[in-house]
Amino acid sequence: MKAVIPAAGLGTRLLPATKAQPKEMLPVYSKPIIHYVVEEAINSGIDDILIITGRNKRSIEDYFDKSYELEFMLQKAGKDRYLKQVRKITDLADICYVRQKNLKGLGDAILSAERHVDGEPFTVFLGDSITQSEVPCAKELIDVFNKYKKSTISIREVPKDKTCSYGIVDSTNIKGNLYKINDLVEKPKASQAPSNLAITGRYVLTADIFDKINQTEPGFNGEVQLTDAMSKLDELYGVKFTGKVFNIENRIEWLKSSIDFAMDDDEFRDDLIGYMKSFL
Ligand code: G1P
Repeated sequence: MKAVIPAAGLGTRLLPATKAQPKEMLPVYSKPIIHYVVEEAINSGIDDILIITGRNKRSIEDYFDKSYELEFMLQKAGKDRYLKQVRKITDLADICYVRQKNLKGLGDAILSAERHVDGEPFTVFLGDSITQSEVPCAKELIDVFNKYKKSTISIREVPKDKTCSYGIVDSTNIKGNLYKINDLVEKPKASQAPSNLAITGRYVLTADIFDKINQTEPGFNGEVQLTDAMSKLDELYGVKFTGKVFNIENRIEWLKSSIDFAMDDDEFRDDLIGYMKSFL
């Protein structure tokens, strides 16, 4: 299965940090956000990745490309540890790129992938959210998709007062963590939300989604929403994700995610704890 990673947005909620660099390239502790996303795709068994970019996103391509000069300098200086790290990034996967010409929303961005996926089902990973779990979030979806052969999305519980930040689903539990999705609404107010189950940012979609997107009028924020297009699908399943999600939507979520990853680093964890204690 192919992976499609939309990464064309302007990152407005993270300005000015995103003024001259893509949001997806902001580091979460030691790596750019998009590096974690590509790793999740690879760990889910995917090796064909399409990143949907836009103007001012060239550093994403440079990041996954070979850096001859850097490698040469690191080799010359005998900095083998760094050299290995840098080479590993280049070897991660073969990545293709397509640009979304006009920023008309997530649904419109997905349309740019139509030629590349060529009628086959595909997995979407939003380029600004990182998931952490034993079985990768997308792998869980792919396994369910392989059983039902219908579009399947990841959902998770969010606090009721946060529904206005997500696509929210109306669903019926089938068994365990599997749900049948009856309807979806993009970013409803708490009073209008059908539940507190939110779209996580990982989707397996069948190619009929492209027709549905073409039939979708601009919705929330005047943008063509993938959520609205999915509500037109004949059948849609949800898998409740119980791992961690880092949705880097604003500066505090960005900071919290960096702290979380730093806490996993044996080299600096105690240092960080000592530093945080100084604020208490
Ligand atoms: C997008 C989707 C939304 C989903 C969210 C998850 O919103 O439109 O349905 O719940 O990602 O991160 P965005 O955060 O890009 O505005």
